[in-house]
Amino acid sequence: MKKSLTAIQPSGILHLGNLIGAIEPAVQLQETSQLSMFIVDYHAMTVPQKPVELRKNILFAAAAYLGCGIDPVKTTMFQQSRISEHTELAWILNCVAKIGELERMTQYKDKSQKLNVKSQSEGVSVGLFDYPVLMAADILLYDTEVVPVGEDQKQHVELARDLAERFNKQFGETFVIPEPKIRAEGARIMGLDDATKKMSKSATSAKSYISLMDESDVIRKKIMSAVTDSGTEIRTDRNRPAITNLLTIFSIVTRRSVESIEHSYVGKGYGDFKKDLAEAVVSYLDPIRAKIQTYLADETELKHILNDGAERAKKQAQFKMHRIRQKLGITL
Ligand code: TYM
Repeated sequence: MKKSLTAIQPSGILHLGNLIGAIEPAVQLQETSQLSMFIVDYHAMTVPQKPVELRKNILFAAAAYLGCGIDPVKTTMFQQSRISEHTELAWILNCVAKIGELERMTQYKDKSQKLNVKSQSEGVSVGLFDYPVLMAADILLYDTEVVPVGEDQKQHVELARDLAERFNKQFGETFVIPEPKIRAEGARIMGLDDATKKMSKSATSAKSYISLMDESDVIRKKIMSAVTDSGTEIRTDRNRPAITNLLTIFSIVTRRSVESIEHSYVGKGYGDFKKDLAEAVVSYLDPIRAKIQTYLADETELKHILNDGAERAKKQAQFKMHRIRQKLGITL
């Protein structure tokens, strides 16, 4: 069985983009590969966090994984900070990574600009800059072959590949070279209020995203007020990003092809289309939200599942770190 791995930040809100771009592909991969799926609490710390909130968000992320269909028996599900080998390997990879390649990371450039600080060098944390190296360590520690992620994370997986190749060249075969797995449709779900920006939890308006915890009426309102392009046809078109995005969502939540949906709306308007889309999203998310709520109500069980996953992950991580230290010549 191939080894696959993915992770999500515990930021309190998980949205339809996270579900479509990463969680759903992971749920499918757990049937055909050995999946590790974890909660990257150390990555979340690259922006300020309140301890009480962070703890709550870690448990929420665990409940969300389970509610979306992650099976903790098939999948090793854990909290990143429980496995100290992640940060240990990140240090080693820091000595392989170059400042220039981290400066080229699009997400770092976007996020550091958004912080709106007087000077980048004084106001942006080293953690935010170094974030992709910790992500490379997450991936390489488990001999990962496949990394299901949304399109925005592709550049980070490519960095992990570069670091693995550089390390292997210098110290001999040590790391497996991972492949990003980006779905053909839905790898970049766009904002409902601005279809030129990806759906994001850090958007200024909550109208941009549909949270997995949004109640049915909130989902309906958000979809009915989603922006549309000029023209009235319900048809995908590179120059009409808003309707293209809505059609992509419709197709994924109903498992119908875009062409068949387009066909159903010939001669109809945006009003009919959005109403049906809203109901389709409600039917898709309602059972997921209910399951998440059930898991959230049992903190003891969530902690038990995360402990069990951490024990399994720790064994793999310790074994790999032992080999890495030998390669580096620091095992006496
Ligand atoms: P994060 O927490 O920002 O996002 C989690 C996953 O959701 C995907 N995603 C989207 N997919 C489609 N459309 C969108 N609008 C959208 N927004 C987010 C992301 O691509 C991601 O797959 N650095 C990572 C977490 C991480 C990781 C890892 C992932 C840390 N270590 C190792 C894979 C392997 C992050 O911040 O994702």
